[in-house]
Amino acid sequence: MSEADADRLAAESLAAGDPTGWFDRLYAEAARGAAVVPWERTAPHGLLVDWTEGHRVTGAGRRAVVVGCGYGRDAEHVVGLGFATTAFDVSPTAVAAARQRHPGSAVDYRAADLFDLPAGWRHAFDLVVESMTVQALPPDLRPAAIAAVGGLVAPGGTLLVIAVGRDEGGVPAGPPWPLTRAEVDAFAAGGLRPVRVEGFQDAEGVRRWRAEFRHAG
Ligand SMILES: C[S@@+](CC[C@H](N)C(=O)[O-])C[C@H]1O[C@@H](n2cnc3c(N)ncnc32)[C@H](O)[C@@H]1O
Repeated sequence: MSEADADRLAAESLAAGDPTGWFDRLYAEAARGAAVVPWERTAPHGLLVDWTEGHRVTGAGRRAVVVGCGYGRDAEHVVGLGFATTAFDVSPTAVAAARQRHPGSAVDYRAADLFDLPAGWRHAFDLVVESMTVQALPPDLRPAAIAAVGGLVAPGGTLLVIAVGRDEGGVPAGPPWPLTRAEVDAFAAGGLRPVRVEGFQDAEGVRRWRAEFRHAG
């Protein structure tokens, strides 16, 4: 598996001043068998599964949304917990692939841009899962991306953020642009309060954050 296709398309897109256009181009090339999506996995993210199991999270019909859902691996986990689940991605090709890969799924897969969300989604979800989307956006978009994710959380609701981590200091060449602790802490705004922020190092030595926030309601 190579990240060269993503790097090439991202570089072209960013140079053209279009920080999100490369996602759909990558998914479209992958659909033709001409590229590899480096984050393609069938299993849900281990830090999400561990969190839902550890806290015995159940949906009982409450509403959840998965941000930047890609092929839907995390959305399928969340819907399996009993949440009425919406999952969106800026790439219509990814959304079409997610629907195709999960026939009969109860997830409502939608093409939508985090920076231009339907008005009805504001403060509408009891659980918001953001895994590795904010880190895929250039640092200058980070404040707007963080605010848009937070704006999805309903009063009393929970936000779970999963991301690759880095120390403070120089901004690395991305994508991805891993999050600093201060950037993770920045999700605690607009009524959201941190419940716990955990740092991990995985088997490959990659630093990761898992952060849970609750809306004060
Ligand atoms: C690194 S991938 C992670 C995908 C998925 N969360 C997973 O773990 O498999 C980032 C995803 O965010 C999506 N994305 C990027 N910018 C977005 C935006 N502005 N609005 C919605 N989705 C976006 C991309 O298309 C891509 O599917």
